[in-house]
Amino acid sequence: MTVPHGSSVILSGIGAYAPEAVLTNDALSRMVETSDEWIRTRTGIRERHIAADGETTSDMSTEAARKAIEDAGLAVQDIELIVVATVTPDMPFPNTACFVQKKLGLGKIPAFDLEAACSGFIYAMDVARSLMLVSGYRHALVIGAEKLSSITNWDDRTTCVLFGDGAGAAVLSLSEEPEVGILDTLLGADGTETGILCVPGGGSASPSTVETIERSLHKIHMQGNQVFKIAVRVMCQSGLNLIERAGLTSQDIDLVVPHQANTRIIEALSSRLDISMDRFEINLDRFGNTSAASIPLALEEAYRKGRLKKGANVLTVAFGGGLTWAASLIRWH
Ligand code: ACO
Repeated sequence: MTVPHGSSVILSGIGAYAPEAVLTNDALSRMVETSDEWIRTRTGIRERHIAADGETTSDMSTEAARKAIEDAGLAVQDIELIVVATVTPDMPFPNTACFVQKKLGLGKIPAFDLEAACSGFIYAMDVARSLMLVSGYRHALVIGAEKLSSITNWDDRTTCVLFGDGAGAAVLSLSEEPEVGILDTLLGADGTETGILCVPGGGSASPSTVETIERSLHKIHMQGNQVFKIAVRVMCQSGLNLIERAGLTSQDIDLVVPHQANTRIIEALSSRLDISMDRFEINLDRFGNTSAASIPLALEEAYRKGRLKKGANVLTVAFGGGLTWAASLIRWH
């Protein structure tokens, strides 16, 4: 199908899903040697949602997707493409998007996963948008979903306090209204830093054995300090570069929806971008870091609160394992 020249891609619907169970800092401090005070002051996190046993990434994705499709005023059968961003697929293969396709009762439309850790949702939006503008898909489902509790080492206090589960979804739709929707995206990665944030076991480099499991190599390993420093640098740079590339200034940005990893990272971003904290959407106090689900969960909250008004310039910016980073500029339709 030919796409009319000047078409844009808008987020026509948004949905989110948070598992019912909530794990508070106090409850965590009964599991490992930590405290509510340490977690709150170092990260800003108070609690996180944890998926039930047997509840999968595709289950959460499907719930969020249903809400996004309803919000867009579409029927499920209008969806022509599914991209799921996740580091916690239901299985190594088939991809999670195929499970979502089946659970939604969709036809034989293309469905695939994309793995860029916490930057995954912005990467996935850009890939879906590009496919839509080139190949003419009219409505695509882009989902960021994680069951990080399944790869968290619950004995490691330096990581287990950070993560949570959830899913967010957006329906991307072609629009003939110019200059709205996703205006521009900046993607990047630094493969020299693969070792500072990873799940080292269970892949082809180190297939699962009794020994890899005993050493918890199938769980998240992170050098928090290193990640923190690089996160601040790359998030600030990509945010600033994107604003400049669009011919805008910080003052033109109505809302920033950052990856929700740590309040101190977001405060550094606020200061370097010269955008006050009241123009940031923050939900990490209640969700922790949900990796690829983080941005769509926060975007959905901003939407529900009425912060995404027509014409608003919204900056999303993320970093994650890889290391990867990504920023996108969305003008609300
Ligand atoms: N409770 C109590 N004490 C703790 C805890 C805890 N949960 N965790 C660490 N400590 C201790 C450490 O052992 C250390 O003690 P020491 O000084 O006696 O050695 C002390 O607290 C300070 O530890 P630091 O690691 O220096 O603490 P820092 O201020 O750097 O905060 C944190 C750690 C929160 C992890 C921070 O580095 C951070 O947020 N990093 C970025 C993490 C991130 O965003 N990762 C993205 C992952 S997402 C993805 O792609 C899946």
